[in-house]
Amino acid sequence: MDYKQKVATAISVAVDGSLNEKDIFYKIEVPKALNLGDYAFPAFALAKYLHKAPQIIATELVEKIDKKGFEKVEAVGPYINFFLDKKDYSNNILNEVLNEQDNFGSQDLGKSNNVPIDMSSPNIAKPMSMGHLRSTVIGNAIANLLAKTNYVPVKINHLGDWGTQFGKLMCAYKMWGSEEEVKKDPIATLLKYYVRFHEEDVDKPELDDDAREWFKRLEDGDKEATQLWKWFRSESLKEFIQIYDELGIKFDSYNGEAFYNDKMDEIVELLEQKNLLKESNGAQIVDLSKYDLNPALIKRSDGATLYITRDLAAALYRKRTYNFTQSLYVVGNEQTNHFKQLKAVLKEMGYDWSDDIHHIPFGLITSGGKKLSTRAGRVILLQDVLNDAISLASKQIDEKNPSLANKKQVAHDVGVGAVVFHDLKNERLNNFDFDLEEVVRFEGETGPYVQYAHARAMSILRKAGVSELGTASYELDDNQAWETLRLLGDFPNTIERAVVEYEPSVIAKYAIHLAKAFNKYYAHSKILKADKQKAARIALVASVAVVLKEALRLLGVAAPDEM
Ligand code: ARG
Repeated sequence: MDYKQKVATAISVAVDGSLNEKDIFYKIEVPKALNLGDYAFPAFALAKYLHKAPQIIATELVEKIDKKGFEKVEAVGPYINFFLDKKDYSNNILNEVLNEQDNFGSQDLGKSNNVPIDMSSPNIAKPMSMGHLRSTVIGNAIANLLAKTNYVPVKINHLGDWGTQFGKLMCAYKMWGSEEEVKKDPIATLLKYYVRFHEEDVDKPELDDDAREWFKRLEDGDKEATQLWKWFRSESLKEFIQIYDELGIKFDSYNGEAFYNDKMDEIVELLEQKNLLKESNGAQIVDLSKYDLNPALIKRSDGATLYITRDLAAALYRKRTYNFTQSLYVVGNEQTNHFKQLKAVLKEMGYDWSDDIHHIPFGLITSGGKKLSTRAGRVILLQDVLNDAISLASKQIDEKNPSLANKKQVAHDVGVGAVVFHDLKNERLNNFDFDLEEVVRFEGETGPYVQYAHARAMSILRKAGVSELGTASYELDDNQAWETLRLLGDFPNTIERAVVEYEPSVIAKYAIHLAKAFNKYYAHSKILKADKQKAARIALVASVAVVLKEALRLLGVAAPDEM
């Protein structure tokens, strides 16, 4: 039921075509305070046509408007405020949510089109950073939102699994490595070798020659080098997958940089054919001055191709494989320039679909106000963050609900959910500070707070002894319920906004808002009191549970029934 449309129609009939219905629709506002009604129309929009003061237009129009289906329609200054009929509204929305369950809010914006999402994409043999975590959870939430709106998301982990650093790693491994040690703790051990290489090559420049030799062997397909590379990759990947499992996130593809090795020649040839390559100090570049960008470095003087060359190959491969209508890259905003260059080169190559490539940047996570970086020793290991969050959640559950069944699973869902939710509730471009205690709190605007509201709704339903609510008349006209009802009705539009803006925080903020409204409602109403509206109140509680759970699911956060 589109109530905004209903308001537009009522006004349009009353103004007798002075302004068409569509224009009216777009001018309708949602007042900030509930006492100003549910929708408001600014009468100055009509002053031009009716040649009267807006206040007068408002007063006169209120007389003419057909008020059927509205609780009241009133003029306040230059505004006409519409109050929806609460019984009619609640009956419609509650039946809709309870019928559709977790399908509520689904809509067909995507027409089944494929949308590749480049996300997570950590580098092999290095610990996954908080930046990669952001990419992972933002990408996953966007994928869920796309699926909800009938796109077909393709989650691609563009692993950093190629480059000269593998030469160094092999060289280091051959000198100081042990298979057993790597197997026990792969990424930490490989990182240790890598760091040692850099310490020692200060005095022994011949190490660099060795490393270059190893990388050359790898590029030439040498058996030992390839085997080592494969092994480093799979051991690292195992560790990454542990974290993904913990987060409940799956990928459709792990085609990383190395996957494009045999697809690079074509890119260079295409660029040559199109006369786009220029020589500069022995290197091959594409001039992008007309885009106000630095030249894109395609091939180094020693013949090695670069990060952007691989991304060109990847973009083309994705277009051919998925025939996308949009292709997304969830990567930190420090790479903004790289993606501008990528799009510009594709445009120069004559690919109009370069306009469908979107970099989805995000801000930095700091700790104590400082940037997290490997060099300054402020690396936060993700696995540690998740483990700490889980034990904090577990402590709180022990205090609040010591007899809870399934404690371990719930602590996991709450701890991990808290970290994910905290990341997503911040507008993605904002930087934010990470303070674990704050993240896992059960009060305030946190994931556990929303999960708790959901669990509370479930507990009311258990108390009420209802399992399934069928279609019925759910007319609820108490003022306490109104904010919650309106929010339920806003869910579909909220999803649309989140997906159009690639902004999961829209959903996180909505979930907080709904949880707050529901908690207020719960505090002020006797939900289970036996009276005429009891069934409708229970239907409201059940609908809140459905929508909170679905909002959390879209964010990639679990909603335990009890906590
Ligand atoms: N591995 C890169 C990094 O850690 C991110 C890759 C992003 N994806 C891409 N197609 N460039 O910085």
